[in-house]
Amino acid sequence: MKKQTFQFTTASVDYYFDASIKELKEIVPVDNTIIITDETIFEFHETKFKGFKTIVLPPGEKYKNQSTIDNIINQLIELQADRKTTLVGIGGGVITDMTGYVASIYMRGIAFGFVPTTLLAMVDASIGGKNGIDVGVYKNMVGIIRQPKFLLYDISLLKTLPDAEWSNGFAEIIKHACIKDAAMFKILKANNLASFQKDKVLLAEIVERNAKLKTKVVQKDEFEKGDRKLLNFGHTLGHALENQYELFHGQAVAIGMAYAAIISEQLLEFKQTTTVKEVVENYGLPTKIDFDKEKVLKVLKMDKKREKETVNYILLEKIGKGVIKQIPLAQIEQIIQSI
Ligand SMILES: NC(=O)c1ccc[n+]([C@@H]2O[C@H](COP(=O)([O-])OP(=O)(O)OC[C@H]3O[C@@H](n4cnc5c(N)ncnc54)[C@H](O)[C@@H]3O)[C@@H](O)[C@H]2O)c1
Ligand SMILES: [Zn+2]
Repeated sequence: MKKQTFQFTTASVDYYFDASIKELKEIVPVDNTIIITDETIFEFHETKFKGFKTIVLPPGEKYKNQSTIDNIINQLIELQADRKTTLVGIGGGVITDMTGYVASIYMRGIAFGFVPTTLLAMVDASIGGKNGIDVGVYKNMVGIIRQPKFLLYDISLLKTLPDAEWSNGFAEIIKHACIKDAAMFKILKANNLASFQKDKVLLAEIVERNAKLKTKVVQKDEFEKGDRKLLNFGHTLGHALENQYELFHGQAVAIGMAYAAIISEQLLEFKQTTTVKEVVENYGLPTKIDFDKEKVLKVLKMDKKREKETVNYILLEKIGKGVIKQIPLAQIEQIIQSI
């Protein structure tokens, strides 16, 4: 188990790549650690949790809310969790977000770590210290930025992950490649979903590369004043679509990336839209959907990232180089209407 430590503004985080969940016992004391996970993961991987006190929650985004947090807090009190207890979130982004949040408020803050079990959590959600919950329809409305003590990567956990969740993770991986890493884009182009599912070495490499890429972006801009905004590539339109249609997050982001590529063509003479779409499709993701433009534009106008009458839109100068552009709402509207 190799440990690599990364320094953030307020804390350092230990990353254990190529690790096994069995090694958790070497990182945290079994007798004062509480695992938080969901029912699906618990059913598949129960034997790996032996010896630890475990809180098992119902799975899914709809439970990422205050009432689940209250439920966790009550169980923590019952389990006599104290200031020295470490919480370990073993799960996808829903579990890691809630674990980090509850650990940050229980007794004014106790230690926590993550074992991400979805590709998306490995390369995105568990990294960067953003933890929180939804309030009604408002996603991630309440939360905190606080870093975990450690991240343990066991890619063998992905064996039980459904294909749709693999694609969700790859949407973020493609996003990373588009904004920051042209060489990785080439690797993605030369492969597809099945090749990563088959090849453990290739998979471990891409997971580590993406975890480090996001880490570096966050290290430079933990509180999202500049570079961290690049991670919103595909997400501006993506979120608006996700709100209106029954799409997985990754599908919405994939369509958002395709549109952002087209907008980049028009505003920055970006020339690689076809390649972006090809790669997106190779990972089981869509590049278009028939959507009600009026409706989606209305949601776009209410987006958090809006500043007065302009939208902060992430575009591509070329593959591997994302840029933040302030675009007047009217211009976005005109381009989207014309596509
Ligand atoms: N904090 C951040 O910076 C950040 C970044 C991106 C996303 N997020 C959050 O992450 C969440 C999405 O994360 P997600 O896609 O991992 O969703 P998720 O946690 O809901 O997991 C997806 C599904 O996969 C199941 N699952 C998880 N691991 C499995 C495994 N190994 N085998 C079989 N099934 C498994 C879960 O039970 C769930 O049903 C959203 O709430 C989003 O807001 C947070
Ligand atoms: Zn995303």
